[in-house]
Amino acid sequence: MSANTGELITIQMSQINPKERISKIKAIKMFETGFLNKLEAGKFETLSKIHKYLFEDIFPFAGEIRSENIAKGNFRFTPVMYLKASLEHIDSMPQSNFDEIIEKYVEMNIAHPFREGNGRSTRIWLDLILKKEIGKVIDWNKVDKEDYFLAMERSPVKTVEIKELLKKALTSDTNNREIYMKGIDASYHYEGYNIFKSSDLK
Ligand SMILES: Nc1ncnc2c1ncn2[C@@H]1O[C@H](COP(=O)(O)OP(=O)(O)O)[C@@H](O)[C@H]1O
Ligand SMILES: [Mg+2]
Repeated sequence: MSANTGELITIQMSQINPKERISKIKAIKMFETGFLNKLEAGKFETLSKIHKYLFEDIFPFAGEIRSENIAKGNFRFTPVMYLKASLEHIDSMPQSNFDEIIEKYVEMNIAHPFREGNGRSTRIWLDLILKKEIGKVIDWNKVDKEDYFLAMERSPVKTVEIKELLKKALTSDTNNREIYMKGIDASYHYEGYNIFKSSDLK
């Protein structure tokens, strides 16, 4: 009986990823301390600060531009040699309406400036632009994981799918703690992190 219990605990512990817990706590803190609201919307420097804040305890490269070329599926993100110029260009892209903001998000995804953690940090960066420029954010719980990945894979060629998908999930409830926390859970779930619920942390 006790041996069985021990085995069960071992299995559960092996499934727990402490990195998920550490960066989710940071994601909540980022909202609650007002850190996010102080950042300038739509700049790479802001994304870098978000990335550093989320991942400084778990990635040695938190906040730093990658120095290797990377790909996902059949897509190669911006080569390192063009990355800095690309990020400067993205900084100057307009962001005065929903379509422009999503186009900017798609370009930032193509740049993929970090070795890891681009998805989770860039979705927070996107919400900050939407919030400051059009008074809305995405309720990520309304965005299905598979639909999201299909639309993102397609986005370097055509942005219509990702625009349609994200537009349906917009909410004006931009300071709602529950929407934010469940949104973090959804965003981490897209990337395979789904052991901890934000509402249970802290
Ligand atoms: N084939 C693809 N083409 C373009 N973008 C993609 C592709 N696959 C994944 N992505 C984007 O990359 C993100 C994941 O980047 P990654 O650096 O691994 O972030 P994280 O570590 O937060 O998972 C996804 O959320 C998606 O936006
Ligand atoms: Mg990843």
